Amino acid sequence: HRLAHPRTLNTTMSSKAPDLDKIESAKRKAAFKAVEEHFNSSMRFVGIGSGSTIVYGVEAIKAHLEKNPPPPNHMNWFVPTGWNSRKVIEQAGLLPIAFDSLPGDALLEVCFDGADEVDEDLNCIKGGGACLFQEKLVACRSKKFVCIADYRKDQKRLLTNWPSIPIEVAPIAHASVLRELRLIGSPDAKLREHSLAKTGPIQTDQSFYIIDAPFKTLLSPLDEKNGSRADGKDGVWSVDTLAARIKQINGVLEVGLFHGLNGAQAQAAGMQGGQRPV
Ligand code: 5RP
Repeated sequence: HRLAHPRTLNTTMSSKAPDLDKIESAKRKAAFKAVEEHFNSSMRFVGIGSGSTIVYGVEAIKAHLEKNPPPPNHMNWFVPTGWNSRKVIEQAGLLPIAFDSLPGDALLEVCFDGADEVDEDLNCIKGGGACLFQEKLVACRSKKFVCIADYRKDQKRLLTNWPSIPIEVAPIAHASVLRELRLIGSPDAKLREHSLAKTGPIQTDQSFYIIDAPFKTLLSPLDEKNGSRADGKDGVWSVDTLAARIKQINGVLEVGLFHGLNGAQAQAAGMQGGQRPV
């Protein structure tokens, strides 16, 4: 499902091609550091996100388990966040377990995932690879959410380099969701479509569609500490008010704003957080 984002495509085609080796090496380095700090072989349930960075995370987990085997009769189970994520788990020889097969009210010790952009309070935009619904489901059932993000993604405010918010919507309602998004400050919201040989809308693992919605300004948490808090007036939103407003639209399954995973709410739910991305 992963498509080059239009902005990525422009960059790639310009004469200033990004240094791909440098980016891949930053992703791998971040993934190995995240796993070294937040994974151990006595963990029982671990979430595995989607995208290209998490592939290095799985490589790091595999290497860790080879060096530090789990205690006798202990199984490490890995909860995928989509079809591709399951393939990555299986190809590494790790054991996948479906979200709905987790026993009772068992929580995951940790969930590792990537992000498209991260702000100074560790709120994220996710969904560049169209997996946001399952990613949020698994993240919210985890005691700790570890987002592996390289230097390109670390920004003061969201919507700095990544231009839009991915939203997963029911196909039957995508036109009415688009209309409502236009009314709340995203006149250029559009359905994500295949760009090359295949035509038509991209479908998620739920057979839903993705809308990419640009917004003018998303306040950073630091702006809000200075007293400003925004509810869409003049096109300016706070991360939480925008996420809540989009979720209210009929036909929206999930919004690719991951917020509050680092605050009191998350800590009350037993999650730990608060470190900058590596
Ligand atoms: C998929 C996601 C990914 O985690 C996000 O797009 C980052 O991907 P990558 O590691 O390839 O940059 O949210 O829906």
